[in-house]
Amino acid sequence: MKPFIVICDGMDKAAFAHLCSLDQFEVAQKAKHTAEEIEALLPRANALVIRSATKVTADTLEKAPHLKYVIRAGEGTDNIDKVACEQKGVKVSNTPGANNNSAAEHAIALMMTVLRKTAWAHQSMAEGRWDKSLYTGNELLGKEVGIVGFGRIGQILAKRISGFEPKVHFYDPFVAQETFPDYCKCETLEEIFSTSDILTVHTPLNDHTKGLINSELLSKMKPGAVLINAARGKIVDEDALLKVLSEGKIRGAGFDVFANEPLDENSPLRKCENLVLTPHLGASTEEAQVRVAEMAINQLNEFFHNNNLLNEVKA
Ligand code: 3PG
Repeated sequence: MKPFIVICDGMDKAAFAHLCSLDQFEVAQKAKHTAEEIEALLPRANALVIRSATKVTADTLEKAPHLKYVIRAGEGTDNIDKVACEQKGVKVSNTPGANNNSAAEHAIALMMTVLRKTAWAHQSMAEGRWDKSLYTGNELLGKEVGIVGFGRIGQILAKRISGFEPKVHFYDPFVAQETFPDYCKCETLEEIFSTSDILTVHTPLNDHTKGLINSELLSKMKPGAVLINAARGKIVDEDALLKVLSEGKIRGAGFDVFANEPLDENSPLRKCENLVLTPHLGASTEEAQVRVAEMAINQLNEFFHNNNLLNEVKA
């Protein structure tokens, strides 16, 4: 029997057509399914390909007795209960690196949006106004940019913004200063929070980073500072963020990720005047989605037909 593959949260159109054309797989009809549709497909599924929307829990695994493989078509695997997968013998992979450039570029887009106030200026233009004097912004040139988490995405971001000539600092206990002589390593979170004009978060979500950016750290930020989060919502305490923003303790923030996604339509974050929001768009470029999908297809092939597990993510 051919492995039955379910693509849960959407896939690049051409890549999906490529997957469907491969004779060695049976692919569930659609490239994107609702939670109810996925639940109905679970009893037959041998592999799930997911983005961040679908959660793979112990309950999912109970409903999927033939499941062998979960591919996270992207980077973060915090939406997968990897311990439960390990217990059931279900293998987990992601597609490391495939969407990282897009994530880094999106964080830079948020930085520039907050610094140059383009989102607010656009809103006022759409409402028929010409509020030139309200939207004087700031340059990135010469500013201290602090990168919290200096893995692949943080490193790409540092490279890409270098053209703006900021001073780049990073905080990452696993990365040595000698590896990156052009950037300055901060030894503590307190140091990077108190010295940066723009802080951008690029750590994965895990037990160590959940709630990492709390009111104490936020209170150390410079009054004119900007906070960018295109990593994971739960890394930042959202109540504490709202407080520093509404009290004007920092200049502004740009957030692409939230503790609960989709963000509740009544969330106070939506009403916060100095906060720019995007709906988890970091990896949502055509280029990233082609790379992610082709990598996932290759991994399906290798796993089911060459007994080769690529890019395994362990519990
Ligand atoms: C990731 O972890 O790969 C990014 O956050 C992108 O998530 P997405 O694939 O759900 O857009």
